[in-house]
Amino acid sequence: MTTPQQTQEISGGCPMHAAASAGGCPVSQMAEAFDAFEGPYQIDPAEALRWSRDQLPVFYSPKLGYWVVSRYEDIKTVFRDGILFSPRNVLEKITPATPEAMEVLKGYGYAMNRTMVNEDEPAHMERRRALMDHFIPANLEQQQDMVRRLTREKMDAFINDGRVDLIDAMLYEVPLNVALHFLGVPEDEIAVLRNFSVAHSVNTWGKPTDDEQVAIAHDVGQFWEYAGKIIEKMKQEPEGTGWMHETIRKNAEMPDVVTDSYVHSMMMAIIVAAHETTSLASANMFKTLLSNREAWDDICADPSLIPNAVEECLRYAGSIVAWRRQTTAPARVGDVDLPEGAKLLIVQASGNQDERHFEDGDKFDIYRDNAVDHLTFGYGSHQCMGKNIGRMEMRIFLEEMTRRLPHLRLAEQEFTYLPNTSFRGPDHVWVEWDPALNPEREHPQLAHDHLYFPVGAPSRRDIARKVRVTGLRQEAEGIIGLTLEDAKGRPLPRWSAGAHVELVLGEYDRKYSLCGRADAPGYDLAILREDEGRGGSRYIHDHIGEGMELRLRGPSNLFRLDEDAAAYVLVAGGIGITPIVAMADRLKALGKPYAIHYCGRSRATMALLNRLEADHGDHLHLHTGEDGTRADLAALVAALPDGGQIYCCGPERMITALEDLTADKPESTFHFEHFTAHDTGLDPEKEQAFKVDLMDSGLTLNVAADQTLLDAILAAGIDVASDCCEGLCGSCEVTVLEGDIDHRDMVLTRSERAENRRIMSCCSRAKNGGRIKLA
Ligand code: HEM
Ligand code: FES
Repeated sequence: MTTPQQTQEISGGCPMHAAASAGGCPVSQMAEAFDAFEGPYQIDPAEALRWSRDQLPVFYSPKLGYWVVSRYEDIKTVFRDGILFSPRNVLEKITPATPEAMEVLKGYGYAMNRTMVNEDEPAHMERRRALMDHFIPANLEQQQDMVRRLTREKMDAFINDGRVDLIDAMLYEVPLNVALHFLGVPEDEIAVLRNFSVAHSVNTWGKPTDDEQVAIAHDVGQFWEYAGKIIEKMKQEPEGTGWMHETIRKNAEMPDVVTDSYVHSMMMAIIVAAHETTSLASANMFKTLLSNREAWDDICADPSLIPNAVEECLRYAGSIVAWRRQTTAPARVGDVDLPEGAKLLIVQASGNQDERHFEDGDKFDIYRDNAVDHLTFGYGSHQCMGKNIGRMEMRIFLEEMTRRLPHLRLAEQEFTYLPNTSFRGPDHVWVEWDPALNPEREHPQLAHDHLYFPVGAPSRRDIARKVRVTGLRQEAEGIIGLTLEDAKGRPLPRWSAGAHVELVLGEYDRKYSLCGRADAPGYDLAILREDEGRGGSRYIHDHIGEGMELRLRGPSNLFRLDEDAAAYVLVAGGIGITPIVAMADRLKALGKPYAIHYCGRSRATMALLNRLEADHGDHLHLHTGEDGTRADLAALVAALPDGGQIYCCGPERMITALEDLTADKPESTFHFEHFTAHDTGLDPEKEQAFKVDLMDSGLTLNVAADQTLLDAILAAGIDVASDCCEGLCGSCEVTVLEGDIDHRDMVLTRSERAENRRIMSCCSRAKNGGRIKLA
């Protein structure tokens, strides 16, 4: 195996394209040109890596000496495996210290070592478990009043000024004070900490010149000494409150787990981790929202949008744009083999805008219902412990500012940033407003009112955009077609083949695949009336009329088309045609070989026939009960060429049949989407409580009879992604280590269930109330 260093010597460029690079491989030139400290990456890291997401998602950067990873799934894969992809290099100086700088640091006894974020297993989880309590959502609730008080004090000081730099006036100091308060660190030297933090960031993630290195080394050395002094001071108060006091106590109780070296290193790292991240994220948030005025105005009109708007800001313009890992053995990311010891720059800002995970990913959209999947807090066992403090602060800032200064606007200015690989946020955010128009001058009570948001990830329930029904038609017997457009006439987000939206109709929230042409301004849905169903489709058929305003979640895509297959067979049963037609459109646009097999009772009951015949006539095979032309699924599978894929949406028996027929084919051959879930509601009369041991976090939870496993895990402060909460999407998957599972999802195949390695936590449970072990 060639090491990156060797490769660099051999080709000076991209190892995968080394041969082509002599002839001028254009992709390799992009990899060679990639500069993490200046140019496009410093202007907009997500945009700068668009070419990589599309063409070369894992590449070696000779300038940086790192492998750069730019796609969402690949980044998540790296975060997920903390053993193969060690965090040991997370706080390493990305630009090696000059001998002079090292001398200076030595003079201060500088010995920055493992903290939490760069500690390997098993030491890391042991330490994290010992120190987790303060971060659990229920224990953070009490911090809300303090954050609001500090925010109001700052706002009161500038509310009548009409012009302010938000960073200087609020966004720097409040997160620092909150952090110091949370940590229990004395608040007496705030000014000096600012210098130190910048020095630490440049020292760790920047590219200082040789001269700058020496000056920074002095600041970093002093920061180190300062951290040591604070620890000594805090040790004099054994009863002190705050997380660092707890850490110092644990150091005395379990010195092998919470070591001396850890305590000193952490004291320095946590001050930056806890406040610089939040200050920069908040600065990005105000800049982004005030540059997207419609979003700001929507929040002013409906503050319940705030938690998701914060999440979307963290996704679209997060403060940590790239993080690091190092392989401990040869590894594979995407389809690239990496040697042992390879250093990785995993660019969350790029993954956060990856269209493969986020529909219309480069669009800022506060109604995005999977914004919370962003990677700005990392992912997996090292995921940010303080994420709920950061979220809490950002929500309170936004809530206070939109209520008290809805007429705020960005002033003319040039934004500047500290050049580095990882921490991103403007140095200043100048804003203006007319104090005479401050709403509280007329309504003084406004200065004191406020909304409350529970600590934790935002609830999907609050996320919905307003749309209007602009078209209503009969698509087939029992099927109506709807066209929906944004209620304020704005463009709706783009979507990809296989995507769905959810109509929010109170007790009848229902998901429907998008079946219009991708470039149409509105969203087309086709909805079958199911008289035996749970009532949603009946409600829609009976009550929805043209011109009505509705609420809608999404689009999201859980049924994605792999665009690289050799050939495609698309199989639809009845109303399952809706995602299939969008896939056919896409395959036609890509010029791929495809066939559509559309099964139904009779032509009269089959939706979208005219459109299919007009757009896909040569590829369409109809199988109707009335004509006796049933689809021969076995023949379809037998005729599938190598590298071909089958996509099916239809009734369960059709999916099961194809699942059986493709059981011996390569794993990626068969893709399916059920259009209905089993009833996943819990009936406490029939359910049993059970115990679950979460091995990674060292917790044992009791899951009550009326509670899902997912809810129990979330209540313990552990983030598990979720989307459908009906067992359809697979996003809430957790690894099973031991115990019998009662699988109730529609995601796992029969053989996957038999393997007993995965559980969908939103619906599946332990069998017969038994105890289970999860990762
Ligand atoms: C870890 C981001 C706020 C404490 C991390 C990581 C990231 C991050 C990217 C590494 C995750 C990984 O390796 O998977 C952020 C952002 C914040 C924020 C964007 C604000 C918007 C905070 C706050 C605190 C905090 C307020 C504490 C009060 C920590 C700790 C870790 C960590 C202790 C180490 C966790 C571990 O390795 O187990 N953070 N952070 N963070 N963060 Fe944050
Ligand atoms: Fe979709 Fe659980 S959240 S399967």
